[in-house]
This record gives sequence, C-alpha cells and structure tokens, in this order.
Amino acid sequence: MDSLQYHDTIDRAAHFLKTRIPVVPDWCVILGSGLGGLGDRLTDPLSIPYDSIPGFPGTTVQGHAGKLVVGTWSERSVAVMEGRFHAYEGHDGWMLVLPVRVLMMLGTSRFCITNAAGGIRADIVPGDLMLISDHINLLGSNPLTGPNLADFGVRFPAMTACYDEDFRSRIAAIARKRSVPMTSGVYAALPGPSYETNAEITMLRLLGADAVGMSTVPEVIAIRHANRRVVAISLITNATGGGSVPTHEEVVALADTRRSDLHGIILELISMVE
Ligand code: HPA
Repeated sequence: MDSLQYHDTIDRAAHFLKTRIPVVPDWCVILGSGLGGLGDRLTDPLSIPYDSIPGFPGTTVQGHAGKLVVGTWSERSVAVMEGRFHAYEGHDGWMLVLPVRVLMMLGTSRFCITNAAGGIRADIVPGDLMLISDHINLLGSNPLTGPNLADFGVRFPAMTACYDEDFRSRIAAIARKRSVPMTSGVYAALPGPSYETNAEITMLRLLGADAVGMSTVPEVIAIRHANRRVVAISLITNATGGGSVPTHEEVVALADTRRSDLHGIILELISMVE
C-alpha cells in the first residue's frame, strides 16, 4: 500500500468513527491478552466491532475481543481497544498502528497501553504489574517504515523519552495507595508467536530487558512519532527461561486474576489527568 492509499484508509476509518461517536475520545486504552472488559465500566458504552470499521481486520487471538468501546468515565471520553493486532498474525507494521493513527487523526492525545508479558528480571514474578520505563524493539520491523506520514510527525523521530513521566509517577502513586504491587522495567518486544528459548531469555537479560512480550512497541512508536503522550503497563503472566514452559492458557488465566486491579488503576489515572 502506498502512502496515499494508507492516508485514505486512515481517513475513511476516522470518518466512519466520527459519524458514530459523539465526541473526540480524550483517552485511548489498549487492552492486552485476557485484559478486556474495561469498556463495560464506562458510562453509555458504545461497542464497535473492528470488522465493521472500514480498513480494519478482525482479531484472531483467543483472549482478544476485537472491538472498540467508546464511553465516558469521570467526564472524560474514553475509547477502549478490546484487542489489538499483532505482527504474528501476519500484519505489516503500518496495519498494527492503524487504530492508534485513526484515533490520533480524530484528536485523541493520551494513550494507556497494557499487555501480558513474561518476567525476565529475577524479582519479577507472575501476577506483578510492571510500568514500562523503556523498550527494546526486537520485532524486526518498525511501523514507520515506508514513506513518512508528515502530518503525523517527522521522518526521524526521537524515541529517548517514550513513556510519559507524569503519567508514570501518577500510576505509581495510585498503585501504592491501593496497595497493588508494581515495579518498573524495560520491555522487549519479539515477534512471536513462539515463546522464547532459554538461550533467548539469557540474551534478553544480558541486553537489559526485564520483561518480554509480542506487542505494544509498534503503537508506542507511532504515538511518539506524532508526539502524543503514552504510558504502558505489563501484567507479568508467566516466568521465562529455566524450567518454565509458558502457555497461552496460563497467560489468559493469570490475566483473569489481575484484571480488575489494572482496570481500577487506569480509570483512576483517567479521572486524575486534566
Ligand atoms: N513471552 C512473550 N510474550 C509473552 C509472554 C512470554 O513469556 N507471556 C505473555 N506474552
């Protein structure tokens, strides 16, 4: 797809959403594997299946609903992406970031991203929440590859301060207040869908990664390209390396037990930020 066609795809999806949602969402929340359901907590939620939005594919992953839910929380308009697109489903980089670009085109400027991830650092265990402080892109792709979309951002955007400091300190304070254990660390994104070998986990640890997953980084790159604000939280669903054998069922089952804490923290962040 060339840049004109891509622009047209973004425009058509943005136009479609504009005719359905009453106001520009202040926030977009992206929910990872097994972390769905936040949309149900919004006031007057409107549910829009991805496959009804022009240009959007459906999602194919178990644990991902594949819909956009738009509603209100604490007088803020919130768009919740229940499910996202992944590189391992065969999508190109530009497709992975189509939803966030459509929302940015509408005017959304604050993003909160969640994911399920495997813990690498020794003190990070399943059930922990990890605020992402930085990332390592090992996807082998970048969503900005191809002609630059100059109305979003510059050709060579800096990625040195991706994760909003103010959002991060607010989330850390909310978690402390609620006695929800939360750590902070570096997230490495790999393409998957196979989980990592023991040698790969050893490599990731040496590279400085604290957790590993298969998402989030493309969206963060596209959001920072457009100089919008983003924060991201990993739910550590499994151990990695050594004797651990991760399964998707384990990932989704763990997410079930921690989902409501995570949703509560996100909603409090939304109500706090002007
Ligand atoms: N590796 C990669 N992605 C993941 C993992 C993991 O161990 N757990 C959840 N998503």
